[in-house]
Amino acid sequence: MDLTYRPRRLRSSMRLRKMVRETRMDKSSLIYPMFVTEGTNIKEEIPSMMGQYRYSVDRMEEKLIELAEAGVGGVMLFGIPDHKDEVGSQAYAEDGIVQKAFRKAKEACPELYMIGDVCMCEYTSHGHCGVLCGHDVDNDKTLELLAKTALSQVQAGADMVAPSDMMDGRVEAIRSILDDNGFINTPIMAYSAKFASAFYGPFRDAADSAPSFGDRKTYQMDYHNRREALKEVLLDVDEGADIIMIKPAMAYGDLIREAKDNTCLPIAAYSVSGEYSMVKTTAAAGFLDEAAIVCEMAACAYRAGTDIYITYFAQELAKYMDEGR
Ligand code: PBG
Ligand code: ZN
Repeated sequence: MDLTYRPRRLRSSMRLRKMVRETRMDKSSLIYPMFVTEGTNIKEEIPSMMGQYRYSVDRMEEKLIELAEAGVGGVMLFGIPDHKDEVGSQAYAEDGIVQKAFRKAKEACPELYMIGDVCMCEYTSHGHCGVLCGHDVDNDKTLELLAKTALSQVQAGADMVAPSDMMDGRVEAIRSILDDNGFINTPIMAYSAKFASAFYGPFRDAADSAPSFGDRKTYQMDYHNRREALKEVLLDVDEGADIIMIKPAMAYGDLIREAKDNTCLPIAAYSVSGEYSMVKTTAAAGFLDEAAIVCEMAACAYRAGTDIYITYFAQELAKYMDEGR
């Protein structure tokens, strides 16, 4: 046959395939989400997330060192307080769980980049991401508390804050309180397009943060919408976000690309708890190859346009990258 094009030519050997690869991953762009809990000497497995643990502050160090040695770029902390109330006061308490964890992390492992998830749902008695007015979350009252929370995390040592609440105007509110307190160089990674997603199920179990009534659909986005995602992204750019996040990652590649093509900011994608647990349990049942799936999911997120990949598989993925997979 006299074929002009033979695309298979470039797939003929592993060496050549690697040479012409379009998407290359770097482990310094990986972020590992980690749960910290009150108490001492705790490392308890999270039932809904096989292989993930809640750590007490005194037990964090071992994991942080492993992550740093693996070359993972950063860690995002989620606090699980002992005490919850209507206004989530432990979210911005000076001796709150996540504040203690940041102080410890900075002392134990200063080379790791530490990020604070800023939200109220782990800290409120009703489990919503802000303060309530009747049965709805009061946007503008919540902004004040989110800003206080972000500031207290940064004062405790967080290198960056990541608001995940989906209130309108929160990036601006956080930027302004950080600037007023001299933290002009602390970046904000905005969960810009965060969808009301069933993929967060295992996390809510892990962080004990499921809403006690209703759902999050009055603040998190409707997953039928693409242009609205772009609107949220562009608003966060305007409000001064430094990094834009899309969440979840796996089923949302079109939106990662949308954000990439329409902003000049780095894009992050969060491969959430449901993505993790689906892979973990299916692999444990012997129905798929965990390492292969983890690499494929990651490469596809980067191919869609992500620059930063937030995943519970960060440590394993760093190893697979070292192995050249
Ligand atoms: C807090 C928050 C959630 C996640 C990250 N930050 C839960 C939620 O919005 O209900 C989900 C992360 C995951 O599922 O891995 N707002
Ligand atoms: Zn929340």
